[in-house]
Amino acid sequence: MLAVAAVALLAVAGSSSASILSPFGFGPSHSLNDRATDIASGCSTTGTASCGNTSAVSNLCCFEAPGGLLLQTQFWDTNPSTGPSNSWTIHVPWNSSCDLTFTENCDSSRDYTGIASLLTAQGASNTLSFMQTFWKDINGNDETFWEHDTLEPSCLPSGSPKGAEAVAFFNTVVKLFQSLPTFTWLSNQGITPSSSGTHTLSSLTSAIKAESGFTPSFDCDGSNLNAVTYYFHLKGSIIDGTFVQINAPESGSCGTSAIKYPLKTGSPVSTTTTATTTTTSAGTPGLPSKATIHASSVGGLLSLGTWSTQTLATYTLTGTTSSFTMTSSKGNCGVSGGTFACGSGVSLTTFSAVTSGSSLLLASGGSTAWGSDGTPSGTTVFAVFTGSSHAQDYTLSIIST
Ligand SMILES: *[C@@H]1O[C@H](CO)[C@@H](O)[C@H](O)[C@H]1NC(C)=O
Ligand SMILES: *[C@@H]1O[C@H](CO)[C@@H](O)[C@H](O)[C@H]1NC(C)=O
Repeated sequence: MLAVAAVALLAVAGSSSASILSPFGFGPSHSLNDRATDIASGCSTTGTASCGNTSAVSNLCCFEAPGGLLLQTQFWDTNPSTGPSNSWTIHVPWNSSCDLTFTENCDSSRDYTGIASLLTAQGASNTLSFMQTFWKDINGNDETFWEHDTLEPSCLPSGSPKGAEAVAFFNTVVKLFQSLPTFTWLSNQGITPSSSGTHTLSSLTSAIKAESGFTPSFDCDGSNLNAVTYYFHLKGSIIDGTFVQINAPESGSCGTSAIKYPLKTGSPVSTTTTATTTTTSAGTPGLPSKATIHASSVGGLLSLGTWSTQTLATYTLTGTTSSFTMTSSKGNCGVSGGTFACGSGVSLTTFSAVTSGSSLLLASGGSTAWGSDGTPSGTTVFAVFTGSSHAQDYTLSIIST
């Protein structure tokens, strides 16, 4: 599990210039909407997930194959102590065949050098600063560690800036990591690092399952807990697809009992830089006062309330999660005759927000189902309707700005 593996990025088709948006159903709350994220795959995320096809799929820009099982490992390194004392650290996700008979190996021909300057040059300094905290090499060579991770630029829109796929990829990895807050999940279930306590494998597994709904695998270094791995299939492109979590199809290297979760030295990070930005101490996401609204498939809402893959509008939310109103720069927002809209002639209606995993879904009349008659791309936008009787169904997550 400690071998450095790599991901070749199955990148993108199409050429729309759109924001990369919350690619995961569980909505990251740390804003990564840097300038550099103006890249989108154009791939649908409503089709078959990787490893779920029953016949050959030909467009491999939008379908992960071969190797449709994606693994996201996080480390708990205590010797030497690496990263914040209250967070696990990132390992790049990598791909494996659906039946786990092979795992992708590193292809150094596509390695990037100077990732930090690449990210800075492309305006992704938020992503870089997050990586500098949470994506740590045990020997302190963070750049070398990042550079082992390789990418496949061949499906990108033509004219993409050099390294755009790297930026999009690192944004995606960071968002995926933020949606899997292992330290917080274990701690919510009463499992915290200590110098003397031990845990059974089943208590660790059950704790993560209780928080995330799925079982991970755990790896140990001797009797010390050292890594956790989460498993996914992917719908669409790795840049902006939906990661569909599955239960661990394999066990890690930990024994069944007497597992130590040792203390790290060093400082904790404040929870405002972790995945719990919009989470209150009770663990319930609060209502942000300013937010963008992201569709679960692609894109999100513009200021008139239409669905688009262009730059999203900022909405102002007033009230509580159980009852609030919204406005955009165009005016009041409301649902009338089953259509969502914002503008000067629109009457305010009341919305609620429903927690789903770590994301907050917009609901009208208690329902989180929304739909449109087509999927937007480029400058084409679609009206947003309540309910799920339209050609494209999605949920809308509220992401604090
Ligand atoms: C996954 O691994 C297979 C086998 O090495 C490779 O052919 C494929 O391109 C990889 N896909 C991605 C997205 O890395
Ligand atoms: C799924 O699609 C891939 C890519 O075309 C193909 O290699 C694989 O055989 C397909 N799986 C099945 C069960 O047909």
